[in-house]
Amino acid sequence: MKRIFLLFVATLTAVHSFAQTDANMGIIPAPVSIKKNNGTFELDKTVTLISNEIANAKTADLLNAFIVTKGGFALREAKSATVGQKSIILTSAGAEKLPAEGYLINISPTQIKVTGTGAGLFYAAQSLMQLMPEKKNDKITIQTAEINDYPRFKYRGMHLDVGRHFFPVSFVKKYIDLMAQYKLNNFHWHLTEDQGWRIEIKKYPKLTSVGSSRNGTIIGNYPGTGGTDNEVYKGFYTQEEVKQVVAYAASKFINVVPEIEMPGHSSAAIAAYPELSAFPDKDTFIGEKTPWSGDRKGKQVQQTWGVFDDVYVPTENTFKFLENVLDEVLVLFPSKYIHIGGDESPKEYWKQSAFCQQFIKDNNLKDEHGLQSYFIQRIEKYLNSKGRSIIGWDEILEGGLAPNATVMSWRGEQGGIEAAKQNHDVIMTPGSAGLYFDHKQSISTDEPLTIGGLAPYTKSYAYDPVPKELSADQQKHVIGVQANIWTEYMETPAKVEYMILPRIFSLSEIAWSQVARKDVKNFTEERVPLHLTRIDKTSTNYWVPTPIGQNEKVLNGENITIDLKAPMAGSKIFYTLDGYRPSETATEYTSSFKVIVPQGQKKTLKTIVITPSGKRSVVTETILNNGAPDVKTK
Ligand code: ACM
Repeated sequence: MKRIFLLFVATLTAVHSFAQTDANMGIIPAPVSIKKNNGTFELDKTVTLISNEIANAKTADLLNAFIVTKGGFALREAKSATVGQKSIILTSAGAEKLPAEGYLINISPTQIKVTGTGAGLFYAAQSLMQLMPEKKNDKITIQTAEINDYPRFKYRGMHLDVGRHFFPVSFVKKYIDLMAQYKLNNFHWHLTEDQGWRIEIKKYPKLTSVGSSRNGTIIGNYPGTGGTDNEVYKGFYTQEEVKQVVAYAASKFINVVPEIEMPGHSSAAIAAYPELSAFPDKDTFIGEKTPWSGDRKGKQVQQTWGVFDDVYVPTENTFKFLENVLDEVLVLFPSKYIHIGGDESPKEYWKQSAFCQQFIKDNNLKDEHGLQSYFIQRIEKYLNSKGRSIIGWDEILEGGLAPNATVMSWRGEQGGIEAAKQNHDVIMTPGSAGLYFDHKQSISTDEPLTIGGLAPYTKSYAYDPVPKELSADQQKHVIGVQANIWTEYMETPAKVEYMILPRIFSLSEIAWSQVARKDVKNFTEERVPLHLTRIDKTSTNYWVPTPIGQNEKVLNGENITIDLKAPMAGSKIFYTLDGYRPSETATEYTSSFKVIVPQGQKKTLKTIVITPSGKRSVVTETILNNGAPDVKTK
């Protein structure tokens, strides 16, 4: 009798352990509220999927396709429920009372009712798919609960630079899929750069026949020791492909914001049409910092990174060119927002140019910064006349903000704060707050080549996009948050995936979840591990977290306890104390242990995490110090 009872308890524990431990039921981003109830909904092949609104059919299909993968069975779809039939109901009835993009999920033992419209219903499906545990005996056992959810910010963005490196449509779609799973709704597509123009413009074929191709790429870290690989690197999206991407994104409730950079970062366009430069006959300037002195005859698409002096000259010809380019862009992108760049535009060529100096005088501008402001405002006027609004990087504040512009604050928060104080909308994307996903994720020397900086996913998670120093009214101008993925050092999709996962989870949560729902322990110890464990079973690459409980700080003492936790289900930690690099040949960590460090000495704990699929974390080193003369303790 006792044995049977124990068995019963053990089974119950196994079924419920996942739902019991995590207050967020495994959902990223954390919903506004989750109330767990007693009991479970047993999802098996007898359940009917009811969706009686045409607009919801795609979401119903999405959910059913997921259940096929997760449970090994498809649900019968029907228009209405029969009495006593277990069902999942998708409905928009009552959704008009919900906040924008909001949804409700009510899970009872006999029914899962999902309420929402459009994006809201789609996000409900994402949450429902995330909260489903693994199947057992052909059933998925779901904890009963009531979930109420809606976003904190209306703009939740991820950017992708396809100028420095080009990524095929198939990968762009995968990127969009990831964004959608985490309730991000704006894909900022950075399409033009010094190193490549990536969008077909029919009126200006040289933008792609010349501007999308460079004769080499700098080797290693900029400015480097000189030299490029001398390989032609090229790629662009046809207008047909752009349309495909925009439609694909729309089907996942993602708006695509195209960025057409101006007046700087425009070497590729200038290489195609040198008359867009103040000095059309001057050979390419490749930057003060670049020791390499190769191919610079005529105008070149840049082969190295950085910022370049050769920017658009503000002639009528240039403005006509930009208007014509934008006309084609507007047909392809229904987005209200068009990003016009505006960042890192040196004033040197404008200072040297007699035309620009005369232009400044004729238009009563103060200086070159006034000219930058004139440039942006003129383009804004054009786009406003077409019913669109501009977004610009925070340099567009210099010399006076265009009247209706939204500012993307990247050089810290100050630009955003200033713009909000001027009653302009703001999107926060400060590099200093962990939102530049091109920065490295740990200080380990195992990290691959990056631009530098340090942005572990916990740093991104800690950021609150609303600056405290803004008044309540000014805070309303912070319409959202974005992470940027600059690809100077990301040549492959696998590297992009490594750089965005798991940081996209942090972005998702700071963009969607209420501040009060933030819980770093629950996030790092429950939900990040759960999501990465799922991703580990796929072909998607990611950054494997280091052991929970370990950091690179020095631990001081004679008798030091090492207490670690594997960062993902099924992952193993191996360690060494002998200075060697750990691998699966090292000691496996199974429980906490003590290390004795003799007086005046130190030891180095080196760990590595190996996941079920064989992926490896970087090696993390912790100095265990007992007064060793060469260890700094402060
Ligand atoms: C930027 O990172 N140059 C916006």
